[in-house]
Amino acid sequence: MRTVLRTSWSPMKSVIKIMLGISAYCLLVSFSGNSPMREEALRRAAIQAGVVPLEEIQIETDPDLVEIGAVLFESELLSFNGDTSCSTCHLDEFASADGLPNAVGTGGHGEGLKRLESGGDVVPRNTLALWGRGSKGFDTLFWDGKIKRTDNGIISQFGSSVPSNDDPLFVAVHLPFVEIREMVVRDSGVREDLEKEDVDSAAEIYSVLTQRIQEDIELGPAIAAANEVSVEALEFKHIAASVAAFIRERFSVRRTRFHDFVFNGGELSAEELEGGLIFYGKGRCSSCHTGSLLSDLKFHAMPFLQAGFGKNGFGVDYGRFNVTYDTTDLYKFRTPPLISVAKTGPWTHSGSMSSLQNVIVAHLDPLSAYDGSGRSARQRREDLARLARWIDTEALPEPLSGQEIESVVSFLETLNAGPADP
Ligand code: HEC
Ligand code: HEC
Repeated sequence: MRTVLRTSWSPMKSVIKIMLGISAYCLLVSFSGNSPMREEALRRAAIQAGVVPLEEIQIETDPDLVEIGAVLFESELLSFNGDTSCSTCHLDEFASADGLPNAVGTGGHGEGLKRLESGGDVVPRNTLALWGRGSKGFDTLFWDGKIKRTDNGIISQFGSSVPSNDDPLFVAVHLPFVEIREMVVRDSGVREDLEKEDVDSAAEIYSVLTQRIQEDIELGPAIAAANEVSVEALEFKHIAASVAAFIRERFSVRRTRFHDFVFNGGELSAEELEGGLIFYGKGRCSSCHTGSLLSDLKFHAMPFLQAGFGKNGFGVDYGRFNVTYDTTDLYKFRTPPLISVAKTGPWTHSGSMSSLQNVIVAHLDPLSAYDGSGRSARQRREDLARLARWIDTEALPEPLSGQEIESVVSFLETLNAGPADP
């Protein structure tokens, strides 16, 4: 009897042991992180969402143009009133943004918060970072996509006199020079017709700036030489080409820890891995934040509260609608790339979010985050219309716990652009 019992019990015991073993393994895999299976799942999901090795999206630049472009990027001579440069708002310290909710242009002083208090002209949008803006396929620039490459060439406010039909960055760098409040003072010295920001007034500003450069005994010959023309033959396009070459080279994304993980066997911590799996999984972030720079470059209405005066005034920014006048584009903005995003706060087109945690909460559960007190009737109508558009989307993410949100933030930190060599 005893023997019989023993023999039938021991196979049972082994089965139980094996089962316990399997569940312990599963627990280990799901809680402690970096099983090869989970790592492989994240690599596969990233590649499926269009992440490619960074070498594949680089575009070569001319070192002479890059060198002089670096000088121009810092030069206040290139602002109509001589008091701002590109680097006034695109600062290394803030990963090529400025650390402010809305940019402060002409008439401002200092950097960061000091600039905010200096009483300069406010540009009613959050400064965008420049990482990857010169890479292959980066066809849509600015929050509202006012520069966009299509099959029929580049669409911009230059209409048929667009400076290039195949390099959106080259067209984009033409704009800051003629933006009132950004690099042109609104009231003093700017005649009525310059205020229109149309093609003719832009041409007038370009010719003033070009002449200034021609007359500068150092910059004139240097830019002419880099562009292989005489100083007399210098045109604004040579200045723009130099600045574009500098941005393309200096802000090219050569390395991030995440790309290293996907393509070169680099490591992520358990929390970063967890965050990545949520980003590409139930968070549904990758339905819009796709590709190597984590943007589909398309337009979506998001439930982010508008802050500040707004592009359309009195706390309103119609976003993409300002470019297309198509009502289905109301409140839509281009999905921002997420390279170095952990360093470019505050976030969103109006700089209304001061932590990445809040950005994610607002993506997930906008109604719970909404507080209409202190908003005017017009603003409340606007806010609710924006929320309604978002709730309409197919891409609504699943709710995430506080811990899951923290993991996603850790994952976003792996996207910081680093130097080419580890
Ligand atoms: C007063 C601050 C300010 C100055 C000066 C400035 N920028 Fe910007 N930059 C911004 C803001 C704000 C945006 C976003 C504007 C928008 O999309 O409506 C931006 C966006 C851009 C973009 C588009 C990036 C993208 O993701 O599409 C490029 C390119 C750019 N700036 C280049 C330049 C260059 C080149 C200069 C100098 C000629 C310059 N900027 C000067 C504030 C500034
Ligand atoms: C339906 C498309 C869509 C989905 C899904 C989505 N985003 Fe976004 N995201 C956007 C757009 C569009 C903006 C900019 C909107 C604005 O400024 O008004 C944005 C802004 C952001 C920003 C701020 C970036 C900056 O430079 O200001 C972060 C960070 C971000 N998203 C992360 C995420 C994460 C994490 C998820 C997943 C939980 C996610 N997004 C899901 C479209 C999307």
